Amino acid sequence: MRKKHTSIGIAILGCGTVGGAAALALVKDKDLLERKTGLSLNLKYIVDKNFDNAVKLGLNRKLFESKLQTVLGDPAVSVVVELIGGTTVAKDVIEKALVAKKNVVTANKALLAHSGAALLSLARKNHVTLAFEASCGGGIPIIRALCDGMIANRIDALYGIVNGTCNYILTQMIGQGQSYQEALAGAQKAGLAEANPALDVSGTDSAHKLAILASLAFGEKINFDAIPVRGIDSLQSMDVEFGRQLGYVVKLLAMAVRLESGLYLCVHPVFISSGHPLAWIPGPFNAVSVYGHRTGHTMYYGRGAGGSPTASAIVSDIVSTALGTQKLLFRNLGIWGDRAKKAKQIPSGEIVSRFYLRFVVSDAAGVLAKIAAVLGRNGISIASVLQKEGVEGSGKQRGRVPVVITTHQAKEKNVRKALISLRTAKLALENPVCLHIVDEQEESF
Ligand code: HSE
Repeated sequence: MRKKHTSIGIAILGCGTVGGAAALALVKDKDLLERKTGLSLNLKYIVDKNFDNAVKLGLNRKLFESKLQTVLGDPAVSVVVELIGGTTVAKDVIEKALVAKKNVVTANKALLAHSGAALLSLARKNHVTLAFEASCGGGIPIIRALCDGMIANRIDALYGIVNGTCNYILTQMIGQGQSYQEALAGAQKAGLAEANPALDVSGTDSAHKLAILASLAFGEKINFDAIPVRGIDSLQSMDVEFGRQLGYVVKLLAMAVRLESGLYLCVHPVFISSGHPLAWIPGPFNAVSVYGHRTGHTMYYGRGAGGSPTASAIVSDIVSTALGTQKLLFRNLGIWGDRAKKAKQIPSGEIVSRFYLRFVVSDAAGVLAKIAAVLGRNGISIASVLQKEGVEGSGKQRGRVPVVITTHQAKEKNVRKALISLRTAKLALENPVCLHIVDEQEESF
């Protein structure tokens, strides 16, 4: 006799790109999921204010519901999937669902980065779970890797390209020589960047994901507001080209490194060697490198955005919630934000790194020597100098040339101090450009 499948009632809140894709995955892949998991995943409700997208996708109108209370009051619903986004309505809705003793699945990285620990605690109090694989890296099972496959490791570092929009823009700047504005316009035309791309290009979206990943990787509570964040919006094609000539590519990296004095977390556009494992990640793809003390370097790669890959992560969370795996991990592991100790986050000024510096200087005798003297006084050792012959400029540009200096390891606060001195002394005629050069992480075994 055929085994009777356990029936799981599901409600999806928010039917935009991701909500619609998740609903379609549950409906279209029902048989496949039943065969693979032994579960009958029954989408019972799609809750939204309007159902235009759901109608367009051909979803059954019987699923449409506008009242959250109906869903929360239905004992047949055991998993509520929040795909509204944002940190206000979504927070209220998740809290109500947890209090109503519904397991919650969410893709909401902004909310988790700010309030993850409190929501996990609320879930625990109500004996239900909160799962969020879809919050980071779209279809890449990176959260599962940190909570399960990599659990035997002390994590030493995590480096991520976790924003597809930025990686697409940078790939166009590097490969096609486009300016930031041209590459952004192309990304918007290709549907890869939002009409308002601020959250992506400012680095904030990457920082949200970094806070979530680092919290699980290190098993410590991360203060999102203490993460230094810089986006790609002020990046100039001149620096991308100088970097190329020096053997580097620019990437927006979300980094979390365990140092003796604490954790260093940041999101910055940085130069990495063209041979670095993260250098080849193309276009809108994401990748996360995780360094464990037993595994050494591991890397997770895939599509970090888009309805279908994100729906894959959401359905996997629904399955693991329904099977009870999520409950076991949530009950037993000590890495969850509500249980973990507060991380000691190292201020960026204390960080030692190599740097790429670009100055606009007067093309005159002795200028380079004076710049080198200021750097030297601040303990900064020069590794290379690149200056092209001055192009005959006109007007304001006449007699000005760009000079690129790369440094050996230096403390960031010393570099900042030197740059201020150079600007004050008018040796740097414009604000200097300063980017970290990130070397490949050493493996610790
Ligand atoms: N906007 C994000 C990106 C996807 O461009 O990668 C959602 O996290």
